Amino acid sequence: MKHGDRASWSGQLAFVLAAAASAIGLGNLWRFPYLAAKYGGGVFIATYLVLSMTLGIVLLVTEIAIGRYARQSQSTAFMTLGFGRWNFIGILATVIPLFIMPYYNVIGGWVVRYLAAYAKLAFGGGAGAIADPGAFFEGFIAAPWAPFVAMAVFTAMSMVVIVMGVKNGIEKANLVMMPTLLVMAIALAVYVATLPGAGEGIRYYLVPDFSKCGSIGKVFLGAMGQMFYSLSLAMGIMITYGSYMRRTDSVKKSAVRIVGADTFVAVLSGFMVIPVVIMFDPASVETAGAGLMFVSLPKIFASLGAAGPWIGLVFFTLVLFAALTSSISMTEACVAAVCDFFHWKRRPSIAAVGVWTVALGAVSAFGYGRWKAFSPCGLPALEFFDSAMNILTPVVAALTCVFAGWALGPKRILAECRRDGSRGPSRVFNVFYIVMVRFVAPILVAAILVSEICRVFKIGGWSI
Ligand code: PFF
Repeated sequence: MKHGDRASWSGQLAFVLAAAASAIGLGNLWRFPYLAAKYGGGVFIATYLVLSMTLGIVLLVTEIAIGRYARQSQSTAFMTLGFGRWNFIGILATVIPLFIMPYYNVIGGWVVRYLAAYAKLAFGGGAGAIADPGAFFEGFIAAPWAPFVAMAVFTAMSMVVIVMGVKNGIEKANLVMMPTLLVMAIALAVYVATLPGAGEGIRYYLVPDFSKCGSIGKVFLGAMGQMFYSLSLAMGIMITYGSYMRRTDSVKKSAVRIVGADTFVAVLSGFMVIPVVIMFDPASVETAGAGLMFVSLPKIFASLGAAGPWIGLVFFTLVLFAALTSSISMTEACVAAVCDFFHWKRRPSIAAVGVWTVALGAVSAFGYGRWKAFSPCGLPALEFFDSAMNILTPVVAALTCVFAGWALGPKRILAECRRDGSRGPSRVFNVFYIVMVRFVAPILVAAILVSEICRVFKIGGWSI
């Protein structure tokens, strides 16, 4: 692709919406509420707010500025900036979405399946397949073909948007899905607040409970790991999306808005999820992962009587939109990386990424059923890929900080922030940015890396 041909967003709002759409995903809907419940409610929420407004903004500004400065996706941005020997960071940052996307799409497929089940229940009536959510979930993920077909359907949905391009596809899809998601989330949170007994759950969620949060280090690490995943950092996405950003738009203001939107939806999700779980199934409040979304919540929906199928339908529609917009961003980061690296045109790059996603996705999709025997490190394929990527992500984030802080230099990043013609960020922010990117961020990110290694290899008792 020639330099001048590079796609671009139609404006700052489109960019912010796209980056926020990437950030707002499954992580906001189930992981944030679960971590808040586990780590003392308000204690976790406050820690998360402080971290995302400081470290989160610094890391976002860094990635967006690198992308816009280089006008390249992550695969070639580091090389383009004149430091060929740092290009391995770009390769690693490309490997991450290439490996995350296939299994993220498998989970997206589960959401498609649940949505179909609730649509049938809401419009068709009857007990439906989902009357016993535990058995439904177990049966579905181990079925011979269903998880693969669902993943392929979900992948096709995101590919259609990518084929339509940055302005006509991604921008327009976000314009429909994101406001709808927000309205549905607010409506559900309000509905939950009106249920008798909701007050106790809201209190559980918001009031700081220091006795439950364990060590402050754990809360801190939990909040930091969540922030990384939630802001789609170290996956090349913000570099690629930054490379489509106009020079006249503000990097810092955009970063603040992206963090604000992502955090707002995360906190809102807690209002949607925690009170109902506390009311109907308090034992499962700390259930991590798939169990909460695919088993506990459907059990609760089943106990809501006639409203249940409709609540399920709205809930899984919003989950689908959140997952789809995040998957679209990963797909775009992969497609752009292939285009820039191999100098291929967009269509063949999309085809290559599509084939890769379905092929590798099959390994995770069949991993609980027909290919169960393939269990690297004793884990189902999906969980293995997830653990491996959870280790690689902080590695790339730390390297990106070292690159920006010491090789490229924070002044170049800050100069890119001033290119919109304004006086740029304040002097206080400049000093804050330099200290953070050079010293604080690499150390904090290294701490998450250690904790992830401890968690995956079950070392010690302090990993989150
Ligand atoms: N940020 C998304 C979430 O919170 O669910 C998840 C995500 C998006 C992860 C994009 C990875 C990614 F590349």
